[in-house]
Amino acid sequence: MLRIGVVGDVHGQFDAIDARLLDAHGYDLLLFVGDFAGYRQSEALRVAEAMRGLRTPAIAIPGNHDGVTAVQLLSEVLPGTGAARELLALGQDRRCARIARALGPIPCEGYRLFVRRDLGVQILTARPHSCGGPRLAFARHLRARYGVGTFEESAARMLSLLDGADPSLPIVVLAHNGPTGLGMARDSIYGCDFKASEGDFGDPDLRLFLDRARARGHTISAVVAGHMHHTLKGGGTRTWQVREGATLHVNAARFPRYERRDGAHVAHHVCILLEGESVTADSVFDVREG
Ligand SMILES: [Fe+2]
Repeated sequence: MLRIGVVGDVHGQFDAIDARLLDAHGYDLLLFVGDFAGYRQSEALRVAEAMRGLRTPAIAIPGNHDGVTAVQLLSEVLPGTGAARELLALGQDRRCARIARALGPIPCEGYRLFVRRDLGVQILTARPHSCGGPRLAFARHLRARYGVGTFEESAARMLSLLDGADPSLPIVVLAHNGPTGLGMARDSIYGCDFKASEGDFGDPDLRLFLDRARARGHTISAVVAGHMHHTLKGGGTRTWQVREGATLHVNAARFPRYERRDGAHVAHHVCILLEGESVTADSVFDVREG
């Protein structure tokens, strides 16, 4: 049985204690869905340095807060700021490289396939820096670094990675945001909770990829992502795991990661168990201090 620990959106809430607690679980692999930083890049670096202390093998994907300045992030979410987006993207590559250096041996990159025969699994990372929804975020960076300018190109890029896949190993997709097609309600796993109209805020390219991968005969055991926080604007919480055929979708973005529970300070992550065709996920709360 393969045991994978998944850490959702961190937004600054990860330190050496968390690294020690995660190592103590003895996971085969850790996956980080991104968003190490809040709005300051120094946070991403501090988190990355704490992650570097992990003894457990780990793989990460950049979120929309990583390698991105606060003003740049604002330009991506506001309408009609196309020119500013292009300009503010200058330096994103350099900022991402600093995070990668701070992470040491932990890869943090989109559009990669990690075939881990030693662990019995392969991890495919999806489009990095996703903001979710119907617009391709950080387009300049995606074009320059990955040659991806559209959702269609993004799906094709992910699909091309499957040429290097080992058909005997399960595939787990690591994304920052999940795919479209899993619900339109505010409390759906990737539903929009910040507009009165609600709607599906998943990534359309990830949906294209999943449908085409299945059509080619690939089985995706799990799609692991975050971005859409469990606590909803206006109250309530969202569904965080959904089964779709042989695939388990897991949204690990319980934020804040740190909370007070039964009188103790705890940190959240998700444990995924993979054995043959069976895949399950459970929330785990590690006690940081009683
Ligand atoms: Fe995010």
